[in-house]
Amino acid sequence: MGTTKFDFSGQVAVITGAAVGIGKGAAEAFAGAGARAYLLDIDDEKCEKAAEGIRGQSGEASFIHCDITDSKSVQETFGRIVSEAGRIDILLNNAGGFKTQLTTAETDEEEWDQVIDRNLKGLFLCSRAAIPTLIKQKSGRIINMGSVAGLASMTRSSPPYSAAKAGVHAMTRVMAFELGEHSITVNALAPGTTATDRVVALRSPEQMKQIGAMSPLGRIGEVEDMVGWILFLASPEAGYFTGQTVSVNGGRLAV
Ligand SMILES: NC(=O)c1ccc[n+]([C@@H]2O[C@H](COP(=O)([O-])OP(=O)(O)OC[C@H]3O[C@@H](n4cnc5c(N)ncnc54)[C@H](OP(=O)(O)O)[C@@H]3O)[C@@H](O)[C@H]2O)c1
Repeated sequence: MGTTKFDFSGQVAVITGAAVGIGKGAAEAFAGAGARAYLLDIDDEKCEKAAEGIRGQSGEASFIHCDITDSKSVQETFGRIVSEAGRIDILLNNAGGFKTQLTTAETDEEEWDQVIDRNLKGLFLCSRAAIPTLIKQKSGRIINMGSVAGLASMTRSSPPYSAAKAGVHAMTRVMAFELGEHSITVNALAPGTTATDRVVALRSPEQMKQIGAMSPLGRIGEVEDMVGWILFLASPEAGYFTGQTVSVNGGRLAV
């Protein structure tokens, strides 16, 4: 992580898709800055290991198996968090992504539904489960992981993924308007290609180099490039910032 110091002591951060990648990086950083981190994922082994790693560094972390596309699983998870921790200060709707690069003609209904559910319905279910607690507190931060693929088209992308991420940016604006009166902010990050294991497996090293070369900074993103922005959006300094998407892609999409 970077050298900027954040302080989330006494706060509860809930991170979906926290077993690996950006979610794991964010969970480690929130816990490192004093928050009690709840790591939610469907990959039990990797996510328990991620939580253990945080506890090994004297951080507070719990893993909960939660499928964000399943409303029962989400309700039970958030019920448990609120009864255990008593509050939720930060919700990072991070779980998402796609695993197969198909064209529209190649995409069957099952793939469409799965990718839309993982990237958009899950965000709706988790936000809906957290919002009553945030309203009661009259405070809270919701941070959504969108994507440049939801803002613009610069190369081919998964059709349901781009459609879902456009929905994530729309939901960010909608929820910001709903929740502003309760002092709750809702913002999104739109990462460019970031070197997580899933993305590295999807693209060849040549493709990664080519994508990196398309940005003024000449490289693809690293997990740390995203985590700093996530922490800033959750910090007190970002309190007058809502309904926005921060586009973190090395300048590849400069608007
Ligand atoms: N990396 C990038 O280049 C990039 C660029 C733009 C936006 N983003 C967005 O940033 C976020 C994180 O990306 P990442 O690359 O760090 O992802 P990742 O490495 O694939 O990690 C995502 C985690 O979420 C889990 N997950 C999947 N479906 C789930 C579900 N239904 N319920 C709970 N957990 C679930 C995954 O488990 P399984 O592995 O078992 O599926 C995985 O552990 C995603 O929303 C992604 O779309 C990433």
